[in-house]
Amino acid sequence: MMYLGSNVIRFNKLPSTNDYLKDNYRNLAHGTVVRALTQTHGKGRFSRSWHSGEDLLFSLLIKENIKLSEVSQLGLVAAAAVFDTLKKYVVRPLIKWPNDILVEGKKITGILLESVIENNRLNCLVIGIGLNVNTVNYPPELINKSTSLRLITGNVYDVDNIYDKLIQNFNGYYIGFKADNKSYARICAENSALTGKDVVFQDNGIIQTGRVIGILENGNILIETAEGQKEYNSGEITLHEYYEQT
Ligand code: BTN
Repeated sequence: MMYLGSNVIRFNKLPSTNDYLKDNYRNLAHGTVVRALTQTHGKGRFSRSWHSGEDLLFSLLIKENIKLSEVSQLGLVAAAAVFDTLKKYVVRPLIKWPNDILVEGKKITGILLESVIENNRLNCLVIGIGLNVNTVNYPPELINKSTSLRLITGNVYDVDNIYDKLIQNFNGYYIGFKADNKSYARICAENSALTGKDVVFQDNGIIQTGRVIGILENGNILIETAEGQKEYNSGEITLHEYYEQT
């Protein structure tokens, strides 16, 4: 199997590393990584934008035969790989299911999964990761929500070094995923920012509230609602913590 990241394409500036891979995946090998120092149209989930600072910005191309139903698992693989990387630098990173990483209650990493689907089959999956490393100045609307390794520890980091660790961790969990080893889901369960918390979320467009019981071995979230316990796949719902509600 080809090592993820054995082919890396670097740019100083791109609109979005995710878009680059979605536009060019036909001509690129499975496992290709695209990195950029800055993005002019960095994208987040829910059509949000992603702020570009002095950070690690990259996307990874998955072209192996992945079932549509397994896509959300790869988001958890990414979250576990980021978690293992961050815990070397900061005391208590937490995974906010399905794939945000928080430190001190603020977001330090975002993960954006995008897939190209044809005839109900996955042509490719693009996993974009933005890990805040050396940024210290955030725009006013992000100051209370975002943090970086430098803001937390006061140190300046070598972004390449962090990337190397992260891609190594990613390969480890990806091999596990292929072998049906669910250790990535355990990492997400044991370090969940949401367990025990009251949440508001959408289920088929209907606003619901509940308390998170935990993250299961299959990667789903279990929530206690007024109608009893419900299990959700990360593709089905998006959780809203109170600060995200508008
Ligand atoms: C989120 O938390 O909303 C996801 C943010 C994902 C940001 C990364 S940065 C590299 C890659 N390219 C993009 O345009 N977005 C992802």
